[in-house]
Amino acid sequence: MKKIGILGGTFNPIHNGHLALGQAAMEQYDLEEIWLMPSKLPPHKSHFAILSEEYRLTMTKLAAQINKNFIASDFELKREGLTYTADTLELLTKEYPDYKFYFIVGGDSLIKFKSWRRPERILELATLLGAGRAGYEESAVKRAAKDLQNQFPKAEIGTIILNDYPISSNEIREAFYTGAPERVKQYLPESVWNFLQQHNLYTKISYAELDAEMANILPRKRYLHSVAVAHLAAAYAVSMGYDPERALIAGILHDCAKAYSDQQLVEDCDRFHLPVTKVERRNGFLLHGKVGAFYAKTKYFITDEEILSAISYHTTGHPGMTDLEKAVFLADYLEPFRTQPTKPELNTIRTIAFQDIDKAVYLALKNTLRYLNDSGQETDSTTEETMKQYYSRYEE
Ligand SMILES: [Fe+2]
Ligand SMILES: [Fe+2]
Repeated sequence: MKKIGILGGTFNPIHNGHLALGQAAMEQYDLEEIWLMPSKLPPHKSHFAILSEEYRLTMTKLAAQINKNFIASDFELKREGLTYTADTLELLTKEYPDYKFYFIVGGDSLIKFKSWRRPERILELATLLGAGRAGYEESAVKRAAKDLQNQFPKAEIGTIILNDYPISSNEIREAFYTGAPERVKQYLPESVWNFLQQHNLYTKISYAELDAEMANILPRKRYLHSVAVAHLAAAYAVSMGYDPERALIAGILHDCAKAYSDQQLVEDCDRFHLPVTKVERRNGFLLHGKVGAFYAKTKYFITDEEILSAISYHTTGHPGMTDLEKAVFLADYLEPFRTQPTKPELNTIRTIAFQDIDKAVYLALKNTLRYLNDSGQETDSTTEETMKQYYSRYEE
C-alpha cells in the first residue's frame, strides 16, 4: 500500500518550515509522497491579507519542486462548498483506495483535535501525525497524542518532533509589508521568493482588504460608521489638496478596537506596555483609539506613523494636529449617520468643515466637552488642551 502524507495549510505563503515538516514526516514514517494541499478558506472568518487560491497553489507547486516526492495538490481547492477534513479524507480514500493516508497537523490542532468535526471518522480514515517543535511544545504534543490514543484505542496516532523552526507565514508577510523582505528570504524556497518579487505580492495593504476585514470583525452598524468616516475623511483630504488614500485607510481602521470591552482595552494596554492615564483607566473606552493604532500596526501592517496617530487620537484630538488627524477626527464626528444635537447644528458644522477645517474641529471639540460636562462624564485633558489651542482664534 502506498503511504502518503497529507500536509494541508493556508500556505500564505508556503515556506521552508512546511517543507521541513513534510521531509521529517516522510523520513520518520517511511512515506513515499507528501501531498502539499492548500486549504480553502472557511466562510465567515477573517481572511485578511490571504492571497487568492491561484497564487497559493502556484507557490505550493513551485515549493514542491525541491523534492520529487512532494506533490502540490489542488484536491481541497477544487472541491465545492465547505471543506472539513473528515470529508476530504472520505473523498481521498474513495478516489485512492490503495493508498494509506497520514494526515499531518500542527501541535495546536492536535491538542484541539477532539473539537474537530467527526474526529472518530478522521481517525478511521487516516493515521494522525501531530507535529511539535522540540523543546517547549514537545511534551504538550506528546501528551495530546497519548490522550487521544487512550480515547481512540484503535486509531493510529504519531508525533513528529522538529528542531525549532523560527518562522511563521505571518512573520513572513509582516516582513514583506513592512518593507524588510530580505529579513525572511532565507526561510522561503528560492522559487517562491522569486514569485513573490515578480508579482509584487505582500507589498501593500489595500483599502479593499481592510474594508473586507472590518466588515468581518465589526458589528454591522460600527462597520457602516467606519466606511462613512473613511469616505468623509477622504473628502476632507481632497478638499485640502492631499492624497485621499491615507485618509481612507485611517478612517476604515479608526474604530477597529471599538468592539472590545473597557476591561479588555485596559488589559491590552497593560499587556503591550501602552501608557494609560488615570482617566483612561477609569473610562476604558477612551483607549480604543490607542489600542486600535496598535492593532493597525501589528495586525494590519500599517507603518505610516501619521495614519497610526490619526487612529490613536480620533476621539480626543491633540494640540498641533496634522491635517490627516483633523480629517479623521472630524469625519468621526460629522459622518452622515451622526444625528447628535450640537450648537451650531451638525449640518452647519458640516458646511464649515469644507471651508475652514480648523473652525469645524474647534466646534467639534467644544461640543464634545460641553456634552461630557453636561452629562457629568469625565473629560480628557488632551481634548481640553486641544480646544484651548483654537479658543483665541475662534471665540468672539
Ligand atoms: Fe471611535
Ligand atoms: Fe468612530
